[in-house]
Amino acid sequence: MFIRWAMACLMAVALPLSPALSDEMPRIAIGADGHRTLMVDGRPYFVLAAQLHNSSAWPAVLDEAWAQALKMSPNTIEAPIYWEQFEPSPGHYDTRNIDALIAKARSTNKRLILLWFGTWKNGENHYVPTWMRDNPERYPRMLDEKGEPIDVQSPFSTNNREADIQAYVAFLRHLKKVDGDKHTVIMVQVENEPGSLGSVRDHGLEADAAFKSAAPADLTRTLGKPAGSWREAFGPQADEAFAAWSTASFIEQVASAGRAVYPLPVYVNCWMRYKGFKYPGIDYPSGGPIWSMLDLWKAAAPSVDLIGTDIYTNDPGEYQRVLDQYARADNPSWVSETEFSTKTAPYLYYVLARGGIGFSVFGIDKSDPTAEQAAAMAAHAENFALLDPVRDIIGQAAAEHRLYAAVEEPGKAQQSLPLADGWRALVSFGPPPWGDTPGIVSNSPDMSGRVFIVQTAKEEWLVGGTNVRVEFVRADQRRGQVLRVEDGAYEAGTWTMRRWLNGDETDFGINFTKKKKWCVSRPEPISLAIARVQVDDP
Ligand code: DGJ
Repeated sequence: MFIRWAMACLMAVALPLSPALSDEMPRIAIGADGHRTLMVDGRPYFVLAAQLHNSSAWPAVLDEAWAQALKMSPNTIEAPIYWEQFEPSPGHYDTRNIDALIAKARSTNKRLILLWFGTWKNGENHYVPTWMRDNPERYPRMLDEKGEPIDVQSPFSTNNREADIQAYVAFLRHLKKVDGDKHTVIMVQVENEPGSLGSVRDHGLEADAAFKSAAPADLTRTLGKPAGSWREAFGPQADEAFAAWSTASFIEQVASAGRAVYPLPVYVNCWMRYKGFKYPGIDYPSGGPIWSMLDLWKAAAPSVDLIGTDIYTNDPGEYQRVLDQYARADNPSWVSETEFSTKTAPYLYYVLARGGIGFSVFGIDKSDPTAEQAAAMAAHAENFALLDPVRDIIGQAAAEHRLYAAVEEPGKAQQSLPLADGWRALVSFGPPPWGDTPGIVSNSPDMSGRVFIVQTAKEEWLVGGTNVRVEFVRADQRRGQVLRVEDGAYEAGTWTMRRWLNGDETDFGINFTKKKKWCVSRPEPISLAIARVQVDDP
């Protein structure tokens, strides 16, 4: 028995992780089955990010915003780089904002994801430098159906494209110069929620001529569409597909020029088509990587590693539907933005369940938070603090399909999670009761239950979560026994056991709760965040 336990521990320690190499570029590793893993310092990295408000990345206000962001215990902070600030006059670059962000991240031991607010920001052009927006003859806007200019740069203009490419390349060249040896910046978002509000597509002369021509043959072939005009190939979706192709092709040129200078992982975030949205250009920006344009975007913008999902809904069904539209072999689940709310905290575990690469909460730097915002901060901070010490274990387990997770949902307070090797986990959400699990488990008032389970070796599991009881049972109904439960923590990458749990603490299941005194009848409160569990092998 002891030998087998020792072996199990050794196997857990010997997870196939590469040694840390701080001089290794952040990159997206692609597994044999196509699974994407974000690698930082040569190790898998699960992003737990706090995103600053749009106007918080200025040095004069950064201290306060950063202090707020740190309250969330993120491993990564996301902050915008404003084109209008970076290039105040043509070809002159102001790196002060970038440098302040990098200095702040290094002094607080955080990683950065920088967001290029370039040609597009929320389907408009509001971060394009004023010297460009003031000169529409040279830097033309898109025209709507009536021939009126809208607040979006025309993707058909070479001047627009070249201006963005030059600025973005200057931005990445600077990153390489100041951060090429430290990799504080681990990923870049190129543009922000691209597409157009105000028109489904560009109706400028060049755009109209292109729309009347044949759709590119390699595109229609890749997508399995009939060859011919845009209308013949894409039918009623022709205008939006044309917009997606012109937007994605523009961004491909920006991203590939940047990659040639400094090959950081790159993603585009999407203003989703969800919540019953129907009309491109009105309900959501037309031409962005909405789910029905994802294949087209993948074909037109191969230099973009990932398409991220900006999800602003509290509906768990809708949330999962969006995640499922985007989680695929060529696109790992990545919540690039989500609402700063207590309700969205459990949804991080949906990303774990899909073996994704991370989760980012938007607009967390409230200088005078309300009680609700303070509660949201605490809920996300609890996730981040729990998961960051195991971020590489989670990333590696996701790549090897050894990661499981579940979330409490209305009417689903108890769930059965199929695991490997003939085991399943019976999870009962809500603050765990004393003694036996009731026959009918009801939802907890705040629906905050969530759990993750990583298989670390044969018959050995790492379990963590909030407001959940976990019982390991054999899938074939035979009796199975939990041999050992260790209460502990990962410290500097090594599991440090505090004590073994047994008796009352494991006889009815293993309990994870954020409440310190979860059981008033006990003299000693249990507050278990993460456990290592070994089961028997009859
Ligand atoms: C999505 C954008 O990408 C963010 O920059 C921000 O504007 C949020 N929407 C606000 O809800």
